[in-house]
Amino acid sequence: MNRPAWHFSLQRTEDELERALQFDGVLNDGRAQLWEAMRYAVLGGGKRMRAQLATECAYVVGGENAAPRALPAACAIEFIHAYSLIHDDLPAMDNADLRRGLPSTHRKFGDALAILAGDALLTLAFEILCKDAAPEEMATRLRATQIIAQAAGEAGMVGGQAIDIDWSHKPDARIDGEMLLAMHSMKTGALLRASCEAGAVLGGGDQNSIKALRDYGIHLGRAFQITDDLLDVNGNVQDTGKQASDESNNKITAPAIFGLEKSRALACEAADAAIASLAAFGSSAQTLKDLAQAPTGMPPPMILPKVLRSGATPYSCCAPPSETRKPVITSSKISSAPCLVHSARRCSR
Ligand code: IPE
Ligand code: IPE
Ligand code: MG
Ligand code: MG
Ligand code: MG
Repeated sequence: MNRPAWHFSLQRTEDELERALQFDGVLNDGRAQLWEAMRYAVLGGGKRMRAQLATECAYVVGGENAAPRALPAACAIEFIHAYSLIHDDLPAMDNADLRRGLPSTHRKFGDALAILAGDALLTLAFEILCKDAAPEEMATRLRATQIIAQAAGEAGMVGGQAIDIDWSHKPDARIDGEMLLAMHSMKTGALLRASCEAGAVLGGGDQNSIKALRDYGIHLGRAFQITDDLLDVNGNVQDTGKQASDESNNKITAPAIFGLEKSRALACEAADAAIASLAAFGSSAQTLKDLAQAPTGMPPPMILPKVLRSGATPYSCCAPPSETRKPVITSSKISSAPCLVHSARRCSR
C-alpha cells in the first residue's frame, strides 16, 4: 500500500504531538522521568491512524481549512491511545516487553512510572481538548470532548479492556462471536470511531455527515481489531513491532472464535461496510476509502503491520522513526499485499 494521501500532513501531526509534549522548565525531581516516559510512549512510533482519521474526517466535511480544527482531538486521542498501550503492556495486563519495536514503557521506566505516564497522558489529553478554544469553537469542542471521554472510559476502551482481561482469567467462559465483536468494538473500535466522529464534529459537519463518518469508524474498528488478532497469529515482530502474546495470555480472539479464514472474511466484510458508509461523500472521501480498501480475500491493508524503519517500503503510513531513539529490532520491508493468514496456530472453537 502506498502512503495514504492524507489531507493533513502526517509530519504536521507529529510536530503537534511533539509540541504538546514539550516541557520548558527545569525539573530536578521525579517529574523529569515522568515527562521522559510520556514522550517515550508517544513520540517516534505508531501509525497515527487515530490522529489522521480525525483530521481527515474534518477535511471530508469541511475541506482543507477545516482539517486543522480537528488537531486538538487528533492529539488528545493519540495521547489516550498511547496511554492505553502503556497500560495494556503492563505485567498485570498483557505483559508485553516490546511495543513499536522498542522496549515497552514499563520495561524502560518501570511499572510505577509507566502507570503514572499513562495517567498523565490521559489527563493531558483533556487539557488539550479544552485549550485555546475560540469562543465560536466552544460548542464543538465540548461535544468532541464528550465523544472522546465516553469512548475512552468504562463504556468504551477501558470497559472493553476489562472484559478482555476478565475472559482471559476464565478459561471455561462461553464466549460467542457476537460477544467477542462487542468487546472489540469497545476496547479498540470506540477510540477509532471517536476519532472519526470528533473530527467530523470539529470540522463542522452536519448530523448526516457526522453519522456517516461515525459508522465508517465503527466498521473500521471492527476490521482493525480482527486483523490485529490475525497478526498475533501470523504477523511477525519485524513488521508489527510487538511480540505475539494472545495465546500465552489465554486471550479470546477472532481466530480463536471464528477460525482464521472466517476472521479474514469478517475483516474484509467490515472494511467493505466502512467504505459503503462513505457513499454520500464522493471523491472527498477517497483517502478514507483507500485506507479501508480490502483487496479480495485480504485483510484491509490499512491495518497491515507498520514498517518501523525508513527506507524503501511499500507501506509507509507509519511515522518516521525518531533519530533519538534506536530501535531494538531492525525491520526492512514487507512484501506488497501480503497474505497474513497462512496457517492456523489455533483452531476454531
Ligand atoms: C494497536 O493499535 C492497539 C490496538 C488497538 C490493536 P495501533 O496498531 O494503531 O498502534 P500504533 O499506534 O500504530 O502503534
Ligand atoms: C488492546 O488490544 C487494545 C487496547 C485498548 C490497547 P491488544 O492487546 O490486542 O493490542 P496489542 O496487540 O497489544 O497492540
Ligand atoms: Mg490487550
Ligand atoms: Mg496487548
Ligand atoms: Mg493484539
